[in-house]
Amino acid sequence: MRPKVLVTREVFQETLDYLARFFEVESNQSDVPLTPAQLAERLADKDGALTVLTDRVDAPLLAQCPKLKAACNIAVGFNNFDLKACTERGVMATNTPGVLDASTADFTWALILATARRVTESEAWLRAGQWSGWRLKQFLGADVHHATLGILGMGRIGQAVARRARGFDMTVLYHNTRRLSAEVEKSCHAAYVGMDELLARSDILTLHVPYSPATHHVIGAKELTRMKPGAILINAARGGVVDDAALIEALKRGTLAAAGLDVFENEPRLNPEFLQLKNVVLTPHIASSTEVTRRKMAMTAAENLVAALTTGKPPNLLNPPA
Ligand code: GLV
Repeated sequence: MRPKVLVTREVFQETLDYLARFFEVESNQSDVPLTPAQLAERLADKDGALTVLTDRVDAPLLAQCPKLKAACNIAVGFNNFDLKACTERGVMATNTPGVLDASTADFTWALILATARRVTESEAWLRAGQWSGWRLKQFLGADVHHATLGILGMGRIGQAVARRARGFDMTVLYHNTRRLSAEVEKSCHAAYVGMDELLARSDILTLHVPYSPATHHVIGAKELTRMKPGAILINAARGGVVDDAALIEALKRGTLAAAGLDVFENEPRLNPEFLQLKNVVLTPHIASSTEVTRRKMAMTAAENLVAALTTGKPPNLLNPPA
């Protein structure tokens, strides 16, 4: 009998066709998110799952899925997985590192430029029929070129963002749990600084840390008050890394000039106060969403699932002890 797998949300046809070569595939192509109870019910007899970042794979779920051997996330982030619980249950967990770095870095730049140059705010104003003519002081923004870019979290995506800053003649500072080698720092034209210095000197601070208890509200009220007055904050990493309520206060007070946000606490029910603010650019968690990259992410996850259930050695295994 062929192993049984569940694809929890809509994917591309090629992903389904590939999985069907190895498995009996059940899939949720109607794309209505499964509740935890529905997920448990549909995974009860499955050997593997292709999951997305809104599926919680934790101890209560795993207790109801005795046959499950692999959960393969279509995302680089894996904070929807309780890795300890997966390991305890012998469930291999995987993610999709690498394939989305460049697209996510590009999108970070879209947020940086849109936020600093007030692209969405001025477009909304124009669409609302409010443009009566050119004015010298219309929508004055902040220069990106020659500004200081701060990067918190200098993994693959942070580094790709740094490399793109060269074209804007920026000074690039970064902070990371460990300092990068001199060679990588040179290739990124980035200087390592402590957290306080990063906050104090960055005109634009962009976040590229994974979400975990250690990074929960890593940018909170205290950090926001330490940021350079008039700075811009960009978050295309994960909701929860920023304390959204504290950010809203800082934006209202004007201590921060603006924020560009692709991720939020409690997605998709973001804090409604964001919608009242003009100095924010808000996008619905789409930083990796290009046609090519999302296809690569789905296929990478599928390849992990095939390897997990056929060889026990998926390329992007997150919990080797499992
Ligand atoms: C998207 O947010 C991802 O983690 O891949």
